[in-house]
Amino acid sequence: MNLRRAVFPVAGYGTRFLPASKAIPKELLPIVDKPAVQYVVEEAVAAGVETAIFVTAEGKSAIEDHFDRNLRLEAFLAERGKHDLLEVVRHVGTMVQVVAVRQKEALGLGHAVLQAAPVLGDEPFAVLLGDDIIVGHPPAIARLAELGRQTGAPVIAVMEVPREEIRHYGCVAGDLVEPGVWRVRELVEKPPPEVAPSNLAIIGRYVLTPAVLHALAATPPDRAGEIQLTEGLRRCLAAGPVYACTFPGKRYDAGNKADFLRATVEIALRHPELGPGFRRMLEEVFAEVQEK
Ligand code: G1P
Repeated sequence: MNLRRAVFPVAGYGTRFLPASKAIPKELLPIVDKPAVQYVVEEAVAAGVETAIFVTAEGKSAIEDHFDRNLRLEAFLAERGKHDLLEVVRHVGTMVQVVAVRQKEALGLGHAVLQAAPVLGDEPFAVLLGDDIIVGHPPAIARLAELGRQTGAPVIAVMEVPREEIRHYGCVAGDLVEPGVWRVRELVEKPPPEVAPSNLAIIGRYVLTPAVLHALAATPPDRAGEIQLTEGLRRCLAAGPVYACTFPGKRYDAGNKADFLRATVEIALRHPELGPGFRRMLEEVFAEVQEK
């Protein structure tokens, strides 16, 4: 299974980050020195993805611009001899082919993925959600692609969460077929902990097949009027296997302010240039706060 295309649903308002996300897409808020979405796109590119399909909305075109060439800026940096910055800017503008499609109404994640159908062709593709940032090598999505290659089936990333938190996630229950891999038996979106079939939460990484798009096209909206990707995948269970697997790397919930800060601090601490100085600065901050 050659995973050449990846879908990035980025149409949401980012209400949890208002007012920061009022005029700037929340996906472009920086984590240390890169916009949040760049971490996610880089993960896909590291796994061999060549084309990024952004499912966007009004006010979000800066995301496409970020991954486009900016020849004026490049000329300016070259003229001033700022070769390091030129390299950084060129890298981000050339790492991936960019396609943008519009989700014209906020009708759910399954609906967002369906908007990409006309440019997906007849091969498996990845879906990566920007709210989940996973750092580390090998890339998390490459693990799913590997399992997809072996099985020819859709693959969902999962991790165990405390039971009371499962209400925030899609939930998977299945039969363990090897360590960290389940053949999925049940899928349910955001169940109350009392009725959840497990504490295995769907994290925003998927390798999907064209069959999932067919299932999504036939999936009715839920009570909130949204077409859920989880429900589309549940409908695929009757037709053939669906797998869930754990993944390498450290995952942050960048849709949550506290975890966004944690990502910022941890990534800064690991940064080769900033890390050592930042550690000393944090120690000073703690000492100052304790004195008061
Ligand atoms: C979406 C999916 C959910 C999944 C989550 C992962 O929910 O619907 O199944 O667990 O992403 O981040 P959202 O967080 O967009 O409400």
